[in-house]
Amino acid sequence: RIRANCRMYLQAFRDHFGPGSLPLYASKAASFKQMYRIMAEEGMGVDVVSSGELYTALSAGFPAERIYFHGNCKTDADLAYGVSQGIGFFVADNREELLALEKTAAEANVTQKILLRVTPGIDPHTLQAINTGRIDCQFGVPIETGQAARFVADALSRKNLIVEGFHSHIGSQIFEAEPFCDAVDILLDFAQAMRQAHGFVAETLNLGGGFGVRYLESDPVVDIPGNIRALAQHLRQGCAEKDYPVPKVLLEPGRSIVANAGLTLYRVGGIKTIEGYRSYVTVNGGMTDNPRYALYKAPYTVVPASRMNDVRDLTCTVAGRCCESGDLIQENIQLPEMQRDDLLAVLTTGAYNFTMASNYNRIGRPAVVFVKDGKARVVVKRET
Ligand code: LLP
Repeated sequence: RIRANCRMYLQAFRDHFGPGSLPLYASKAASFKQMYRIMAEEGMGVDVVSSGELYTALSAGFPAERIYFHGNCKTDADLAYGVSQGIGFFVADNREELLALEKTAAEANVTQKILLRVTPGIDPHTLQAINTGRIDCQFGVPIETGQAARFVADALSRKNLIVEGFHSHIGSQIFEAEPFCDAVDILLDFAQAMRQAHGFVAETLNLGGGFGVRYLESDPVVDIPGNIRALAQHLRQGCAEKDYPVPKVLLEPGRSIVANAGLTLYRVGGIKTIEGYRSYVTVNGGMTDNPRYALYKAPYTVVPASRMNDVRDLTCTVAGRCCESGDLIQENIQLPEMQRDDLLAVLTTGAYNFTMASNYNRIGRPAVVFVKDGKARVVVKRET
């Protein structure tokens, strides 16, 4: 499924965008060596957001030149590590980072390619907590206030940095092409203004991540190739109107590469019915492997893996094992009468579960097991 998702993006890119355009896997969605090996084999780029992700990618043999380093507070150590490893691009987030990166690159006697992260000020109507394209946020530099124009002027004046273009990320769980087209309009207007001001032509537009996945059957089906076609048409038309050279396009899908490849299997501890209130089904995991319900009230489909044919007549809440009343996986769902040692499966947990896991209460993280053609293998060992 992971490979099929990559190929869907790669094919749509070949069909609709020009040479040099590339989907970059946003590896915060699921970061361990085997993911980077698959991305390398499939010919994807990757986006990393920390020295830890970069280290994991490089350890897996992922080619440095196809790595893009993100983050709104990269440390000096992050910058030095990325520069020394010869990574393709830093996505510069702010002016202080430009100064620090210029210094690091000068010391290493290299010129470092960068993209400049700007905020187009778009609200794609997604969950507030995972909405990062608004002006009032801690990522990038806003266009509307004039600060992004100064950011560009500053970046262009730095000898050891080569500005290749712009980046924006408008949010996550976006089902349509439209918010991306709105971002393209704003970025092209901005790029045109920068061409007029500095004679600078952006070679690359990185439009960030964000295509959605179906967590529930009632969620819309996303036509990713169709959205990419619409986006490409919109971009070409916008460039033609402005007589602007059509840039290379990068996207950074995370969730839509890996979410629907994954599910979490829990062992049931028991059922606790609080008479007159509700029933809890407890499981041997919870917010430590999937904090998304606690954080965002994220919806999931939960199925009784070891009792798929039983009547689901128990309305219940699935609770984890932390000493924390908010440690819930889902509330008010329908399951059969579960018993200790039954298996419960939570679907579509391939993205932002393993990577957001913690050791709260000193609970070990679960194993990650890859399955293909009826064969299973452990790609991350269970913590003991
Ligand atoms: N690029 C940038 C700069 C991002 O900030 C993100 C996600 C992506 C790409 C990938 O977006 P995706 O295609 O996966 O939607 N932990 C949250 C999501 C926060 C994601 C923030 N950035 C969750 O569990 O839903």
